[in-house]
Amino acid sequence: MKILTITGYKGGCGKSVTAIHVATYLSALGDVVLVDSDPNRTSLSWANRGQLPFTVVDERKAMKVVQGRDFIVIDTPARPDSSDLKELAEGCDLLILPTLPDIVSLEPMLQTAHDLGEANYRALLTIVPPKPSREGEAMREELRSNGVPVFSTMIRRTAGFQKAALAGFPIRDLTGRDRMGWLDYDSLGSEILEAIGR
Ligand SMILES: Nc1ncnc2c1ncn2[C@@H]1O[C@H](COP(=O)(O)OP(=O)(O)OP(=O)(O)O)[C@@H](O)[C@H]1O
Ligand SMILES: [Mg+2]
Repeated sequence: MKILTITGYKGGCGKSVTAIHVATYLSALGDVVLVDSDPNRTSLSWANRGQLPFTVVDERKAMKVVQGRDFIVIDTPARPDSSDLKELAEGCDLLILPTLPDIVSLEPMLQTAHDLGEANYRALLTIVPPKPSREGEAMREELRSNGVPVFSTMIRRTAGFQKAALAGFPIRDLTGRDRMGWLDYDSLGSEILEAIGR
């Protein structure tokens, strides 16, 4: 069993979208449970609107459901205080920290990285504006030059995610241009497998 936790200090940076799509990727490889520990219940309501290819469970009911699964993905609320991140990291195989590629996110991410020390975590650039913007690449380089582990894959900003949320499906199940964002989570999935030694 491998446990992946999605967290971050900031709201609205794609944590729930990331949890849902990482779980979608892993669902092709094994039995997956997404534990929704965000009081907004974003993932649970997404699942209730349509159909997701894995089980979504309220954290209060998680204990029973997670037994014997191959992958547990945990969606968490924003935590402005990074001091308890280390404990979160110790409780899982990989901590994923989605972040927007903007300058106000840089300092907090560097602080978080400092607090996490040698823990197993990676930053993930999400909601990245399309070319010719270079904000994603610039932020990735900035983080790397400060020694922060960052996924090479960046998640593009695309309206497909909103459509997928409304429909209650993963973006993988949309068609045409709406589906393009799946390419990013698919590529992220391979990086995650490498990071957790699968
Ligand atoms: N790659 C993307 N492109 C466009 N919109 C996105 C993308 N990722 C997420 N969003 C949108 O941004 C909003 C916030 O995303 P999400 O709910 O995943 O963030 P969150 O970090 O879980 O927020 P919260 O802190 O409130 O739990 C949602 O409306 C979602 O549809
Ligand atoms: Mg959320």
